[in-house]
Amino acid sequence: MSIKIQVRSNKGGVAKTTSAVNIGHCLANKGYKVLIVDADGQANITDYLLGGVEFIGKRPGINKLLEKGSKLNPEDVVVESRIDNLFVLPNEKIDANGSTYSLTSIIGDHPVFQNIIKNLLKNEFFNDFDYTIFDCGPANESDAVSIQVGCDYLLIPSTPVHDGLTGLKSALDFLEEINSYMDPCDKTEFLGVIACSINNTLGEHKDCLKHLKEGLGDYLFQNNIPQSQKAYRFSRTGKTIMDFPKDKAAIAYELATSELIQKIEALKKSKTKKNKRAPEANL
Ligand SMILES: Nc1ncnc2c1ncn2[C@@H]1O[C@H](COP(=O)(O)OP(=O)(O)O)[C@@H](O)[C@H]1O
Ligand SMILES: [Mg+2]
Repeated sequence: MSIKIQVRSNKGGVAKTTSAVNIGHCLANKGYKVLIVDADGQANITDYLLGGVEFIGKRPGINKLLEKGSKLNPEDVVVESRIDNLFVLPNEKIDANGSTYSLTSIIGDHPVFQNIIKNLLKNEFFNDFDYTIFDCGPANESDAVSIQVGCDYLLIPSTPVHDGLTGLKSALDFLEEINSYMDPCDKTEFLGVIACSINNTLGEHKDCLKHLKEGLGDYLFQNNIPQSQKAYRFSRTGKTIMDFPKDKAAIAYELATSELIQKIEALKKSKTKKNKRAPEANL
């Protein structure tokens, strides 16, 4: 049974895609079978892991799979990446100029569609994966609702800038709002916040981490991710940070991934799931 994680914040540029890819790569290195779903119309995962430019218009992705009347099955759409154990459910890029495809326009905004991702994931094809990770865009649209409803856990990356914290707070409010309509046993659980792109020599970054720790307590991952040149390489070359295992950010993602596994184990064991609420996000 796959563990389904939504990686989300209401802010762009806070390392959502970087975290989804590198945590996915770490889990795959540990021998888990991992699927990353590119649920962001900007198709960054598809670009980086599958060489998106050559991909344009060549293959269907999540939008075509979910389109009304679609005859596609998940196995027609999911692609093996160059990384062992790591698979991608791509997004369709419309063209090379950055035009995006909105999953919301496929899903529609009627509440009846909130279960569309949950129902998709019931397909036995997905049982084969140990982890399914959704890389999401920043907007509060119906795709964000249906992905949250379909996922067991929410992971929020944040960078140490004011906007990043605002995006984190909105994502937490959104989690609470959607959860308030759910049966207690179906609520998406908050895994925590992973602080990314940290430069410990900067006072403002240290202040920001302190602020996050005060606001989030144990929900802040102990292992934060330092700034790394390899992350910039990722956007240019399609190599993940984990392709450079000695890099400080790669070591940090490795530790953060072990922490994530432990957090999930602890949450699974916790008997208090039904009453568990995300923190008040006093940020
Ligand atoms: N640890 C890091 N060190 C340096 N740059 C980073 C780090 N993590 C992410 N970045 C850079 O920040 C930018 C935004 O990251 P990205 O993962 O695309 O954010 P999002 O998916 O939230 O929009 C990218 O250029 C990425 O390479
Ligand atoms: Mg992204």
